[in-house]
Amino acid sequence: MTDLAAPAPPIRLGVNVDHVATLRQARGTHYPDVVAAARLAMHAGAQSITVHLREDRRHIQDADVETLCGIADLPVNLEMALTEEMIGIACARRPRDCCLVPESREELTTEGGLDIAGQKTRVADGLTRLGAAGIRAALFIDPDAEQIRAAAEAGAHHIELHTGAYADAVDVASRRAELARLIEGAELAESLGMEVHAGHGLHVDNVGDIAAIPAIVELNIGHALIARAVFIGLDDAVLEMRAAMDAGRQRIV
Ligand code: PXP
Repeated sequence: MTDLAAPAPPIRLGVNVDHVATLRQARGTHYPDVVAAARLAMHAGAQSITVHLREDRRHIQDADVETLCGIADLPVNLEMALTEEMIGIACARRPRDCCLVPESREELTTEGGLDIAGQKTRVADGLTRLGAAGIRAALFIDPDAEQIRAAAEAGAHHIELHTGAYADAVDVASRRAELARLIEGAELAESLGMEVHAGHGLHVDNVGDIAAIPAIVELNIGHALIARAVFIGLDDAVLEMRAAMDAGRQRIV
């Protein structure tokens, strides 16, 4: 896959393939193939592949992580809870990146950012252990100044801002307010020396405003992109998302 080494565009796209595995797990079949999806997404223009190994293994399985991390030059971003089990798996499989997320079994998806301020020492220890294994570790947090400062103090090299509240906003005013929080949060994180990523609930119609935030350099997108792929194919869904991101990015003067 020669295109894995292609120069990165101004804003990178990480494609989350969890829901390819959701479809597979629904029937206990060996298809659709998560690895084939990852290769197709990379070929269509993604810069990395994200998978979330959840505690209940509802979609991605340990074997998927092992296989994906074993593919030379495939930039894998492993989302996981900050637990001994997950730190052990990450250190054994060595994805390029990890993103520490909060996790509760009952939730449908990751519902809020990680509380760094309330457990700074534990987070710092997790970041140190992942860093020692050569993994770049990020923290998935809400665009909240206290959490962003705590992430920097815990030693995070980069953070991923949770865009769920923005994506779920029910009216124009609250959507604008959530966008403003993301802009302020991204600027604060950048000023503290951290690289800023964002994700959750993004789709072609709402991604432009997020891609237009200069401090944000990577978006991780899954559910809407995989859902769109059901109708137009994964490669076209990646191209369509890329185009929407690029259109937003061009608004930066
Ligand atoms: N980033 C993180 C940290 C996530 O937990 C998720 C959901 O797994 C995403 C991005 C992607 O969210 P979505 O599937 O809504 O695009």
